[in-house]
Amino acid sequence: MPTAAAHGREDRTGAGREDASGDVAPHAGAQASGGVCSVLTAERLSKQVGSPEGPLTIVHDVSLDIASGESVALVGASGAGKSTLLALLAGLDLPTAGRVLLEGQDLTALDEDGRARLRAQRVGFVFQSFHLIPALTALENVMLPLELAGHAGAREPALETLRRVGLADRTGHYPRQLSGGEQQRVALARAFVTKPAVLFADEPTGNLDAATGARIGQLLFEMNAGSRTTLVLVTHDQDLAERCRRVVHMEAGRLL
Ligand SMILES: Nc1ncnc2c1ncn2[C@@H]1O[C@H](COP(=O)(O)OP(=O)(O)OP(=O)(O)O)[C@@H](O)[C@H]1O
Ligand SMILES: [Mg+2]
Repeated sequence: MPTAAAHGREDRTGAGREDASGDVAPHAGAQASGGVCSVLTAERLSKQVGSPEGPLTIVHDVSLDIASGESVALVGASGAGKSTLLALLAGLDLPTAGRVLLEGQDLTALDEDGRARLRAQRVGFVFQSFHLIPALTALENVMLPLELAGHAGAREPALETLRRVGLADRTGHYPRQLSGGEQQRVALARAFVTKPAVLFADEPTGNLDAATGARIGQLLFEMNAGSRTTLVLVTHDQDLAERCRRVVHMEAGRLL
């Protein structure tokens, strides 16, 4: 896989931003117009799928440029294509047409292993339906991405991150023993723990009461301000959307 170093940048392979001590310069993505650093660029993305009614285009010709450290809310009605677009931007899914550049690397040119490695190093993703691993406890779920990235001491940062999402007293619970909102917070902790360059979250406060949602919102924006983590959030939560620097509207697979 082409490494960050191959693109003339520091190679923080396996470490995410863990060893960046908070004083690393914003990573040099592709230069967007005006000299702004792009961390994520979508070029004319389309996604077509088969359905019982025939082929369906669920993302239409979407182009988007997101600067390093930016926070973007993706909003729109149910079925508009938000989760599909988020998965394409994160390299979890491949477009039918177009391409995605993450820190200058073309995700559509990488094979599945290459995309998985890049995601492990640079991306955090919170799924709408959490996707926790049922056979692992909350703590083990949060330790997993650190272990996959080769961290020796995964336990302490995982415990600290669970504490930050208010789950210090649920670390030994399996997902089936957690409420929906607690599972969502474990999923958030799992995505936060590697201090990713880009955090994608699909309705991160969707299952939370107002106070817990506000606390999670605060954590997201602390990461954005403190670690320059770029945030791309799908949300129906107006407060959360308003805190983002940019709100992007989606309707029937297109950006408005
Ligand atoms: N694999 C698939 N095959 C067929 N249709 C699909 C597939 N994946 C998504 N769709 C359709 O594409 C549309 C967009 O789905 P998507 O999950 O991206 O919407 P969304 O904006 O995230 O909605 P919500 O707010 O309800 O989560 C939906 O109408 C859905 O039925
Ligand atoms: Mg969705």
